[in-house]
Amino acid sequence: MFTLLNHPLITHKLAIMRDEKTGTKDFSQQLDEIAGLMAYEISRDLPLKEKDVKTPMGICHTYELAKEVVLVPILRAGMGMVSGIRNLIPTAKVGFIGMYRNEETLEPVEYFAKFPKNLDEAVVMVLDPMLATGGSASAALTKIKERGAKQIKLVCLVGAPEGVKRIQEDHPDVDIYLAALDEKLNEIGYIVPGLGDAGDRIFGTK
Ligand code: PRP
Ligand code: URA
Repeated sequence: MFTLLNHPLITHKLAIMRDEKTGTKDFSQQLDEIAGLMAYEISRDLPLKEKDVKTPMGICHTYELAKEVVLVPILRAGMGMVSGIRNLIPTAKVGFIGMYRNEETLEPVEYFAKFPKNLDEAVVMVLDPMLATGGSASAALTKIKERGAKQIKLVCLVGAPEGVKRIQEDHPDVDIYLAALDEKLNEIGYIVPGLGDAGDRIFGTK
């Protein structure tokens, strides 16, 4: 399933992030806020289980989340989405996968992986602001599935058609969420118009 999350606040904040004049602080803040807004939409189908709560007036037959949520940011840029989502889902556990693109081949190189236990029972949200060729996300999803994850949502900000196609082909069972689907990739694999290098813009490197 592929979902484009259209919301005026997301569009407004993403426009700020796209602006080349936006500095590290504002860029990170907007990313965090968009991640929270996306999480609100994405969590609509989280399963619930029954629960009785004693209120000051009596017993309320209500519900609580039935499954653990695990966030897996793809390092580095995915880190910029974690706190915005954890503000909404404070019980979410966090795993990490380190991945960078070889700048010549555009192939992903994995350099770190650490996950919480019981991924097989959790709803796993894989986070990365950019879905370009889809190579990094596809490799991360393969790794996470090897560790047992079954219910996976890939949450990205900006995607290229090439990246969406790659994930749909490699991982048809994974739900893809984007805040914007851009036009294309350029000759060096960057999304156009995109927002540039997300990791560099979040962390002020270059
Ligand atoms: C960026 C981005 C994705 C990847 C997307 O990371 O955060 O992980 O590129 O490109 P792809 O879809 O073609 O694989 P990058 O490799 O620049 O590493 P960084 O986050 O450490 O800057
Ligand atoms: N990685 C980024 O950070 N930006 C792009 O446009 C493509 C890959």
